[in-house]
Amino acid sequence: MRTILVTGGCGFIGSNFIRYMLDKYDDVFIINLDALTYCGNLDNLSDINGINRYKFIQGDIGDFELVSSIFQEFKPDIVVNFAAESHNDRAVLNPRIFLETNVLGTQNLLEVCKKFGIKRFHHISTCEVFGDLDLNDSNIFTESSPYKPRTPYNASKAAADHVVRVYYHTFGVPITISNCGNNYGHYQYPEKLIPLFVTNALEDKSLPLFKSSQNKREWVYVLDHCAAVDLILQHGKVGESYNIGTGVEKSIEEIAAIILKTLNKPETLKQYVQDRPGHDRRYALEWSKIKNELGWAPKINFEEGIVETILWYKNNPDWWKKLKNRSFKDYYDNYYSKLKL
Ligand code: NAD
Ligand code: TYD
Repeated sequence: MRTILVTGGCGFIGSNFIRYMLDKYDDVFIINLDALTYCGNLDNLSDINGINRYKFIQGDIGDFELVSSIFQEFKPDIVVNFAAESHNDRAVLNPRIFLETNVLGTQNLLEVCKKFGIKRFHHISTCEVFGDLDLNDSNIFTESSPYKPRTPYNASKAAADHVVRVYYHTFGVPITISNCGNNYGHYQYPEKLIPLFVTNALEDKSLPLFKSSQNKREWVYVLDHCAAVDLILQHGKVGESYNIGTGVEKSIEEIAAIILKTLNKPETLKQYVQDRPGHDRRYALEWSKIKNELGWAPKINFEEGIVETILWYKNNPDWWKKLKNRSFKDYYDNYYSKLKL
């Protein structure tokens, strides 16, 4: 039995990863350590709770005593660190919590790994550590591109990557890192572009397109990301990082158009709003390393995956309606006034 400590497993990608691993392997035991912040949601794993190869523990990755006690009791073979503050808009309002969780929380996990030993510490990172690209630049990011973060969230993820490498080079903790493009799929908190626009459109509310609406992202279906992480755990080389991309780039305009067409909603729902400060123009990854060395390639075609995802939100209003009611009153209503722009 492989025992895997997954952190942040009640969030979007972490919950998909836990389900993916438990479905795929009979000999995997998963402990999910999650603080249940505003976006940590037990509903994301309601079908998994009760499975005897899964255990949920509520707590902070920055809590040394707690993480140590988990290591003493369960002796994990592997840690996969998804836990993070993950939303650029929020980082503009409160950068500190991003540094506390993403950098110091990660450092705390590594410190416990150093103390008790671990076969692999895999860190989930992002394309955003490399900074942004011109919309038409043909030189996209490789694993050895320089780190040039431009937002508080990106800087916290970049710093975390450095700390992870430090624990490898200085202390010998066996790490791997993956830097992935923008994910889409089921259970994404409805503050990020796709679930926000889909759920707003379903409620006949406006879609707030940042005015630089030709800015674009590279889109990865969440289960393709999970498959890549699984492969890195099995065959990835310790000390290395792997880009996870697809080559599928879509602008804010294109995403809005697909959503409105799929839901048969009018173009008039589009509303142009101020860019967030430091709005990155474009991220794009060169991903031949994971393709050539580990044999990974995305399986989900974007045109099919995006429609399936939009329809999942349409068919699961009970999942997202309470999240929007919970967080949006105290957050989005005041967002632009808080920024004092
Ligand atoms: P998310 O915001 O949906 O989930 C984050 C989870 O972490 C939540 O369940 C939250 O409760 C938990 N958490 C936050 N602080 C914690 C703490 N101190 N201790 C324990 N748990 C804590 O995020 P996501 O979109 O699923 O992203 C997961 C990881 O993937 C992050 O590290 C993010 O930087 C990275 N990533 C995300 C994307 C994307 O498109 N969403 C792309 C590339 C990389
Ligand atoms: P987001 O989902 O926040 O991810 P990222 O971390 O890549 O910025 O945003 C994706 C893109 O969508 C980005 O260009 C900003 C844009 N966007 C909007 O235009 N309006 C919105 O309300 C949000 C949340 C994002």
